[in-house]
Amino acid sequence: MSALANQKILLGVTGGIAVYKSAMLLRALLEAGAEVRVAMTAAAQTFVTPLTFQALSGRPIHTELLDPAAEAAMGHIELARWADLILIAPVSADFMARLSVGMANDLLSAICLATTAPIALAPAMNRQMWLNPATQENVQRLTARGLLIWGPAEGVQACGESGPGRMLEPEALLDQVSAHFAGGALAGVKVVLTAGSTREPIDPVRFISNRSSGKMGFALAAALRRLGAEVVLVAGPVALATPAGVQRIDVETAQEMQLAVSEQLAGCDIFVGVAAVADYRPREIAQQKIKKQQTVMTLELERNPDILADVAAAEDPPFTVGFAAETQNVKAYAEEKRRAKRIDLIAANRVAAAEGGFERDENALTLLWEGGGESLPMMLKSELAARLAARIAERYHARTQQENS
Ligand code: CTP
Repeated sequence: MSALANQKILLGVTGGIAVYKSAMLLRALLEAGAEVRVAMTAAAQTFVTPLTFQALSGRPIHTELLDPAAEAAMGHIELARWADLILIAPVSADFMARLSVGMANDLLSAICLATTAPIALAPAMNRQMWLNPATQENVQRLTARGLLIWGPAEGVQACGESGPGRMLEPEALLDQVSAHFAGGALAGVKVVLTAGSTREPIDPVRFISNRSSGKMGFALAAALRRLGAEVVLVAGPVALATPAGVQRIDVETAQEMQLAVSEQLAGCDIFVGVAAVADYRPREIAQQKIKKQQTVMTLELERNPDILADVAAAEDPPFTVGFAAETQNVKAYAEEKRRAKRIDLIAANRVAAAEGGFERDENALTLLWEGGGESLPMMLKSELAARLAARIAERYHARTQQENS
């Protein structure tokens, strides 16, 4: 049976050059077996006429809120009730702003206000519009209300700029829709994950950091999301696009990372520490740039909080997963670390030169948990992430079952 057979999807289309991609998305959804109806805003119709979508879907396109004929056939309330999922692709900055304040001044916004179906948004806009605090506040508000935000991707944009704001490709959106309906091994499970490095400032222009690229953490966030988890990614400064459907919180220092994690712990079922958190930070941050006066300079450092250990030591801790980077005795040191931090599962990797680890696209991992383990050989980080995510899901359910028996 097709992946999306019998699923009723209302495809909302708002204004933006990415509208041409939603015509392809419509085809992909239909080919996957979904029943699709299309509602277009006035702005969307200035890019592509409803006729294109009508020809592809074989159904009339919904455009008017106050058209008696349209309302008599299938009005906004019927459409709102009919849909199992409302997917708005592309969603413009303007439409998100209207959604966030609950406006209902056209057909699509009225449907969104009247529905109890999940609403997924695939943003597409110029990078500055996406990064504008007004848009970001709307995204936060909509996420907090339970709307799903899929994308945007980073890359070259129609306006010639490069950065976040491209709509996810139709195939990626189809994957998201399929994952949404499939439920997945981690459906309904909240995961908080740290990734990347942290930066510990020395003065206004210098900092202490490390080589972590964030690739493993981001790949794992995407893999956990594909298993249906609600994923919050607390990211240090890295140059990576946010995985589709993942909520990202950017931080710089270990202390900021700890604060962001603690704010997300309510309702968290699984915590994964992938970040290479700086163990120490300068005791004092110079207010002005430090001048090179001495031949030898001493920096006094103090310990940063151990975010993973603190989460694991909480009263009712989530299932905790940690990483260990070792240059020798990988298994023994990692097991020691697992016990010392009292975490449920540890993923250890060797960081000796030419053996994977930081800044590379491939890696190998040794997984250890109470009473078991698994060796994952050298492979692409994306594949490794999928294997690790599956193991995390399996161990998480094993622990939950044990607690309930
Ligand atoms: N971690 C953390 N907060 C810190 C340090 C580490 O949350 N301040 C987490 C990392 O995200 C990772 C694990 O703890 O999951 C790594 O533990 P750590 O003891 O720092 O490992 P190594 O860096 O390998 O430690 P060491 O230098 O002691 O070998």
